[in-house]
This record gives sequence, C-alpha cells and structure tokens, in this order.
Amino acid sequence: MTKVLVLYYSRSGRTKKLAQSIALGVAKTGAEAVLRSVPSLHNDTDKTSEQFVSKDELVNCDALALGSPTRFGQMATPLKQFIETTSDTWLNGELIDKPACVFTSTGSMHGGQETTLLSLALPLLHHGMMLVGIPYSLPELHKTRSGGSPYGASHVESSDSSLLSNDEKTLAISLGERLAITAAKLKKD
Ligand SMILES: Cc1cc2nc3c(=O)[nH]c(=O)nc-3n(C[C@H](O)[C@H](O)[C@H](O)COP(=O)(O)O)c2cc1C
Repeated sequence: MTKVLVLYYSRSGRTKKLAQSIALGVAKTGAEAVLRSVPSLHNDTDKTSEQFVSKDELVNCDALALGSPTRFGQMATPLKQFIETTSDTWLNGELIDKPACVFTSTGSMHGGQETTLLSLALPLLHHGMMLVGIPYSLPELHKTRSGGSPYGASHVESSDSSLLSNDEKTLAISLGERLAITAAKLKKD
C-alpha cells in the first residue's frame, strides 16, 4: 500500500486542520495517510496527544506532505529542528525521487504564505524529492479569497471562523489526492 507521511507542526491547530484535509485526500485514493507531528519548544510534550514522527516513518514513506505555521515569513523552528536531524537520510539518498508537497497557515493574508511554502520546499529539494503543487485547473484556486496557492495548500485565519474555508479545504484535499496518486505512480515495487 502506498504510504504518505503527513508531517506538520501546529501550535494552535490551524496547520493541523490542513494536515487532516490533506490526509483525507490521500485516503480517497486508497493510500494510507500517516499523520505525525514534531515536539514544540515549550517543554510540553507530556501535555499533548500528538504522535511524533520517527526517522523510520520518514525513510519508509512513499511521499511526504510537510506543513508548518508561518513564523516571521518562514517555517517554524520545531519543524526545522526535525529536518536538521535528517542529514543521514540525505547522505543515504533515502528520499530521492519521492514526491512531496507543502502547506502552511498564517495569521494574515499577506503575512508570508508563499515565502513559508518555499522555505518548506527548499530542504525537500535538497533531499531530491519531487515537488507537487496545485494546478490552476482547479476552479477554487481562481476564486479563493483566503488560502490556497499553486505552491501548496494554505489557510488564512479569519475572525469569523476557526475552520478552513470551503476553497481552502477543497484545495488541501485535492493536493493530498494528487500527492498520493503521484506516489503510487512512482512507487518502486
Ligand atoms: C512567533 C510567531 C510568528 C508569526 N509570524 C507570522 C507571520 O510572519 N505572518 C503571519 O501571517 N502570521 C504569523 N504568525 C501567526 C501564525 O502563523 C498563525 O497564527 C497560524 O495560523 C498558526 O498556525 P497553527 O494554529 O498551526 O499554530 C506568527 C505567530 C507566531 C507565534
């Protein structure tokens, strides 16, 4: 079975909502979505019900969706800290030719969605992964008034609701589907 690791950091749950929608898209294709997080810097690992990622889960995935809240225009430190433990994975070339996608949540519309998505993409390119984005053939990408970008799935906080907008959700689900379909096509038996 094609295994897609959906790896995120989320302090207040917004990025996690995107991760869950991406996982939904993955599952729609019949692939397995493995939702995992990384510990925060706040020494509160005992207070969380999150399941943290292991190196084995990273190495053994067929595809990776990587997400973080925007922090000063780029990915959050807890996720970067995990990525910086993956030099051995990089040296062994264990992620080469596997597809990947990225996602983020911001507090404000112009607070750095694209820069964060690109900051997440950079280490994945170093790992030799093949990036999957969102094509403009999806009507929601044209009409969204919140998140959703060709670079990846995203959410912009709104004072009206803590939920993803319908467009953000549809785009995140589609990205998960696209990633899983690509992974199944590229998977070596
Ligand atoms: C230290 C810090 C830096 C932040 N920097 C930005 C930023 O540059 N742009 C922005 O729009 N929001 C910024 N935010 C807001 C978060 O990106 C936003 O609340 C996000 O939706 C949180 O995601 P989460 O619920 O997954 O933790 C920042 C928040 C914190 C705590």
